Amino acid sequence: MVFQPVSSELHRQKVELFREKIFNFYRLNKRSFPWRECTDRYAVMISEIMLQQTQAERVAGKFLAWMDRFPDTETLASASLREVLLLWSGLGYNSRGQRLQTCAKVIMDRFGGMVPTTPEQLKTLPGIGDYTCRSIPVFADNLDVAAVDTNIRRIIIHEFALPEDSPKHKIQFAAEQLLPKGQSREWHNALMDYGSIHLTSRKTGIRPLTKQSKFQGSKRWYRGRLLKEIVASEAIFLEEIEKKYGSCPWGLHEIIDGLVREGLVDETESPSEPGGRVLKIREEQR
Ligand code: ADE
Repeated sequence: MVFQPVSSELHRQKVELFREKIFNFYRLNKRSFPWRECTDRYAVMISEIMLQQTQAERVAGKFLAWMDRFPDTETLASASLREVLLLWSGLGYNSRGQRLQTCAKVIMDRFGGMVPTTPEQLKTLPGIGDYTCRSIPVFADNLDVAAVDTNIRRIIIHEFALPEDSPKHKIQFAAEQLLPKGQSREWHNALMDYGSIHLTSRKTGIRPLTKQSKFQGSKRWYRGRLLKEIVASEAIFLEEIEKKYGSCPWGLHEIIDGLVREGLVDETESPSEPGGRVLKIREEQR
């Protein structure tokens, strides 16, 4: 196995061959995405957060519209949550859109509006985990660190015959050994294309760590639908929602209470109809 080499020369040769294979594939199959055209750290952060669990092809249009409306941290931090959620719509997991705005506010407060540069600083921000804290400086600054997403994990497991349940730190170590120094940005783009186009989950049988459960009709699906209704109107009567989603098997009020608890939605008494309840997107976050 390449990471416990018989000799360091054999190990070096195998790593070199692997790099060549990946870069050759990339030369012929490179995908074009709008975020690959920019190195602005804010733009890279937006694309990387949008790309968490959403397919790249779906993200492309959303990314451009977002950058048009919220071109920098300051604009995003001061926007209304409703507008943020409107532009997030279609990317799934609305709380990620909300978290991204919280992230912008923290960057304004703690980093003077500049997206931080190091993985350690980035990791302290809401919604930024082990992968994203590395992928942002990889794509923005060509930093020599290894960012392991689901594609890269699958490639390493398959190509080097590692067990599928290998601990995260082993895959991370392997990814660091394979990284060609000084070419981090190109290398990560190349690996992602190799994994998405060629060495797919279907082809290898290697499953992603977090398999999404059946979506349509799930509690999360209803949650998304409800939030979309609320975002689409300035304010909506609870009664209207109850009529439309009476058949929801997950407890409509439990879902709405969850949205309120998470700070996405406010539920108040109707100013015009005594006893009526009104839902709207929260204007100021607590
Ligand atoms: N997924 C996460 N980052 C990506 C990127 N830069 N290109 C394509 N897919 C990605």
